[in-house]
Amino acid sequence: MSAAASLRILICYASTEGQTRKICRFCADQLFALGHTVEMLAAADAEALDLAPFDAAILAGSVHLGKLQAGLAEFASEHAAALNRLPTLLLQVSLAAAGNEPGERADLDRIATEFCAAAGWTPGAIHHIAGAFRFTQYDFFRSWAMRYIAAQKGQKVEPGADREYTDWAGVSALMRDWADGLVRPR
Ligand SMILES: Cc1cc2nc3c(=O)[nH]c(=O)nc-3n(C[C@H](O)[C@H](O)[C@H](O)COP(=O)(O)O)c2cc1C
Repeated sequence: MSAAASLRILICYASTEGQTRKICRFCADQLFALGHTVEMLAAADAEALDLAPFDAAILAGSVHLGKLQAGLAEFASEHAAALNRLPTLLLQVSLAAAGNEPGERADLDRIATEFCAAAGWTPGAIHHIAGAFRFTQYDFFRSWAMRYIAAQKGQKVEPGADREYTDWAGVSALMRDWADGLVRPR
């Protein structure tokens, strides 16, 4: 591909409280600004999607109780053969990615590895992205549980307010580097 190549990139995501969708929207804007065409689809709406028109794909999901969303897993399994022929990325969003606790980091690696193995998909790279507390989206019990988790981690959160940990500059650099590697293979 030439340096000026414009790629068709699929972003397929699952998002329970909305942060992964926000991250994917940001990735889509970054890739679009780099001259690429991006289709962004929720995994739930991507059933029977034909991947043939795409040059590359990003799958993104968030960790809830140690797992990525079942809908994303179904999409990855259903399309594993096509995904394995494309340059791909897995973006795994979690709160553990906001910290540096080695045990939690090892858990994140295991969650991603098991997700990919179960689907039969080998992504080109896996990236962990820090998500957010979304108190505006939680029900009473979730809000209580998440306040407890925040307190255990020494994080101050305002009840009823969201708190974002996503490193937007890092995500932007990731998109730039990944897209650059696609048009100028090293
Ligand atoms: C019920 C619940 C369970 C969660 N479980 C985990 C977990 O096991 N590990 C983790 O690192 N983050 C966990 N999180 C944090 C989410 O991954 C984080 O809030 C992320 O930003 C959610 O993304 P989404 O809004 O796209 O769903 C959990 C969040 C909720 C609400």
